[in-house]
Amino acid sequence: MSTEQEKQVSDTLARLDAAASAGDVEAIRVEALGKAGWISALMKTLGKMTPEERQSEGPRIQGIRARVADAIEAKKTALEAAELEARLATETLDLTLPAPSVPKGSVHPVSQVMDELSEIFADLGFSVATGPEIEDDWYNFTALNMPESHPARAMHDTFYFGDNHRAPNGGKMLLRTHTSPVQIRTMIAEGAPLRIIAPGRVYRSDSDATHTPMFHQVEGLVIDRDIHLGHLKWTLETFLKAFFETDDIVLRLRPSYFPFTEPSVEVDVGFAIENGKRVLGGSGDAPGHGWMELLGSGMVNRRVIAFAGLDPDEWQGFAFGVGVDRLAMLKYGMDDLRAFFDGDARWLSHYGFSGLDQPTLSGGVGAKA
Ligand code: PHE
Repeated sequence: MSTEQEKQVSDTLARLDAAASAGDVEAIRVEALGKAGWISALMKTLGKMTPEERQSEGPRIQGIRARVADAIEAKKTALEAAELEARLATETLDLTLPAPSVPKGSVHPVSQVMDELSEIFADLGFSVATGPEIEDDWYNFTALNMPESHPARAMHDTFYFGDNHRAPNGGKMLLRTHTSPVQIRTMIAEGAPLRIIAPGRVYRSDSDATHTPMFHQVEGLVIDRDIHLGHLKWTLETFLKAFFETDDIVLRLRPSYFPFTEPSVEVDVGFAIENGKRVLGGSGDAPGHGWMELLGSGMVNRRVIAFAGLDPDEWQGFAFGVGVDRLAMLKYGMDDLRAFFDGDARWLSHYGFSGLDQPTLSGGVGAKA
């Protein structure tokens, strides 16, 4: 009986040795150690033995069970390791291969221009501030010195939410018509002194070749002591020269009116006409030249500073607001604003910018398209 069992053991070990897969090993395990397996049957014989027989047979049978079980475990481990090796071998990555050519996205000119502006103004000590596109009446109008009945409200073609959507202060909710509410939010949140730009989307119910219901502005705000118009003019000149990458930028400041600035200044830039296209540079008064309206600005109205919780006797400042889409059109030569928002892949690949080419002052802010 014992030689019979020895043969069975060596047989099992030999088959285990030759097993090529986890499935083979499992089959051998079931045959030996499964409920109806031959080792399980051997174990059951112990119950029918006399205590003396059991004393010698017990350790012997347990020994057989342990040898087979250990061999199965060892084979399993070896097979798993080999499988892992094989899989790793098929999954090697050749890092020396060139990157495959895949369709690539591009950075939209609006994003590009906003990045350029952030870079230029960061160099002048401005940080970037943001505010919600869904605003309330108070931030968008009242705190900017446009009370309920103010005629300037009518000029904004505002998208209002229904009366069931009210601000906590009871005011109407609306889509912000300009980035100027960020002036108020930032002054309230951060106090003074302050130097920020606030790029973002704005909305007006208006649509033709030069107006879309959604467009982009960048707001600028400086609050400090003893700020005057000279600071505003220098800042705008420095910014526009850096943005258009030329020193040949001539500005004309015209008196204007915004409820939130006093005095208010409309800024025009001189251009020439070359091959039927407007090219920035030179005085707009020179022969063959003209002036183009570029942005609105002014000294922050005392009332606005007070609305934002600051003391207007201590703090002054200037603010400006400029259309980002318009800046992009002027710099990169598009002539229809609506195409900006069509999502046409051909337009995007023509006018878009590489995502790997971040605008920097040292590299020239206008990264190459
Ligand atoms: N918010 C104004 C507009 O949208 C622009 C502006 C901003 C004017 C800041 C003066 C100061 O037309």
